[in-house]
Amino acid sequence: MAPKWQKLADRLASQIRRGDLTPGQQLPHIRDLVAAGEGSKTTVHAAYKALEAEGLVTSSRGHGTVVRPQLPIKQLRIVGDQVVLREFTRDDVDAVLAIIGDDTVTTWLSFDSRDRAQAVAMIDGTIERARHEPRTEFYLGVTNHDDNRVLGFVRIGLSGVQAGKLGYAIAAAEWGRGYATDAARTLIGYAFTELGLHRISAAIGPENAASIAMMEKLGFTREGVLRDHVFTNGSWRDSVLYSLLEHEWQPQSGGGGR
Ligand SMILES: CC(C)(COP(=O)(O)OP(=O)(O)OC[C@H]1O[C@@H](n2cnc3c(N)ncnc32)[C@H](O)[C@@H]1OP(=O)(O)O)[C@@H](O)C(=O)NCCC(=O)NCCS
Repeated sequence: MAPKWQKLADRLASQIRRGDLTPGQQLPHIRDLVAAGEGSKTTVHAAYKALEAEGLVTSSRGHGTVVRPQLPIKQLRIVGDQVVLREFTRDDVDAVLAIIGDDTVTTWLSFDSRDRAQAVAMIDGTIERARHEPRTEFYLGVTNHDDNRVLGFVRIGLSGVQAGKLGYAIAAAEWGRGYATDAARTLIGYAFTELGLHRISAAIGPENAASIAMMEKLGFTREGVLRDHVFTNGSWRDSVLYSLLEHEWQPQSGGGGR
């Protein structure tokens, strides 16, 4: 379980990221939070220090702890037929943990199941990298049209010249509803049309039948096998490499899809 200072820091961080606490606003005095039952002086102090280390607040004598202006981030929201792709927030931790903390899902990924702290770190990393200029990672939450809850993720990381690497996962309870196909199709369309990519590739475990079916549905071409490509679940695993080139992409049919 996360220590008390961490929980307080997480809560304040999401209030800052959501804009409930605005730039220039002073955080409550430590003694007021202590009086409000948020923890000891040491706990609140540690939470404020963590926020400072994250670059969310500054502390100075005379001004207390003040929310720092956040770098503007272009909040992407890309609407597909079934899904909406959106930026992650700290509020998505539980939903993300339900995906990357579940062996049923991660057995097919290039990393082992992760715990809550790692889910927080993953989200924070995506939020931070989304601010990089130029942006080289598009790591987005997958939601459906009716609910803002994250039920999966899709990612394209730029690498090389006009090239990107695709990855995705959907919470096991939501498999088989077409979400992954639509999410990948939607981000691929964005990458070819808005980001000007020429090539998108994906490296998939040879036994990952669902993911391979998706590649074929989306019009990807099998290129070959990457031997011992990832070390996951205690052993080396090959990957099958797939790619899709810009001129092969057919947006109206999802590149050969349904
Ligand atoms: C792969 C994954 C993302 C697919 O998510 P999903 O939302 O269930 O996918 P979709 O509903 O869009 O369907 C994918 C296609 O795979 C097919 N499929 C699903 N399971 C299958 C299986 N065991 N064997 C063959 N095909 C399968 C589906 O029938 C569907 O094709 P169809 O529309 O022609 O019927 C999901 O299974 C997952 O998260 N797996 C673990 C993580 C992962 O593998 N990520 C990709 C790493 S490369």
